[in-house]
Amino acid sequence: MNIFITRALPGDVLSPLARIGKVTVSPHDRPLTQDELRAGVVGADAVITTLNDQIGTEVLAAGPQLRVVANTATGYDNLDVAAITAHGAVATNTPGVLVDATADLTMALLLDVTRRVSEGDRLIRSGTPWSWDMGFLLGAGLQKGRLGVVGMGAIGRAVARRAAAFGMDVVHHARRGPGVIGPSTRVELKELLSTADVVSLHCPLTQETHHLIDEAALRLMKRSAYLVNTARGPVVDEAALARALYLGEIAGAALDVYEDEPHVHPGLIELENVVLAPHLGSATAQTRTRMAEVAVENVVAVLGGGEPVTPVPQP
Ligand code: GLV
Repeated sequence: MNIFITRALPGDVLSPLARIGKVTVSPHDRPLTQDELRAGVVGADAVITTLNDQIGTEVLAAGPQLRVVANTATGYDNLDVAAITAHGAVATNTPGVLVDATADLTMALLLDVTRRVSEGDRLIRSGTPWSWDMGFLLGAGLQKGRLGVVGMGAIGRAVARRAAAFGMDVVHHARRGPGVIGPSTRVELKELLSTADVVSLHCPLTQETHHLIDEAALRLMKRSAYLVNTARGPVVDEAALARALYLGEIAGAALDVYEDEPHVHPGLIELENVVLAPHLGSATAQTRTRMAEVAVENVVAVLGGGEPVTPVPQP
């Protein structure tokens, strides 16, 4: 068996793979180009990918033997699942293991933007004189504020629980599922956007959610409201967001993901009321190791003739 890994994996997770075949890890410490991906899957029975690797018909055509594409992420919008299935392979992801890490990071961003922590950090580092006074760098308190969670999967629910513990009233919008989930009640998207003090995005990127938060959606939000995105960049129209922030149509934004990573809209970089994180949602040592282990478990299961542990849902 030949297993191609597009980016080095953390921890000592490769041993189960080495027992079943030859493992090739990309020598490049960066995302691979489509040409490099195609070259990498030649003769491969399995490929372990990151969220930067676009796997569609062209890459699959270069790897006729491929039986499993194991994505080391919970999101799998970088995989053409229909094409992978048509190829006779399975696509897998790493759900569950990164829920708490991503929910924690969401709260970190939410607190940062509402309490202006990064802004204060920049101020101190710039050498600007400052002193405590009653009106200095005032932010927004969360207690009794409303959090609107868009997408109520495992991460949305984990964020809802955390926000409730901070004293927030929580509502959510989801296409399906019960009307009440933990501390949260389901509402229409319009109601969520127009009443929330913080809107936090936790939906997958699909054709339906692409630019879900566009100019019209941003206009529905309160001028005092904040947007947090730890889902996928293209769920938000970044140019529209930069414009809304510049015009003061919303109070601030905290982003972990971008439309065209690693590029960030220059209009966002200029603004003080925006917190920018470099896609850190699952970035704890423990979580990244678990993600790599789950990807490896999927490859071992499929190449061993068994069922994948965590197949992505079929389109
Ligand atoms: C990270 O963004 C993931 O989808 O796991």
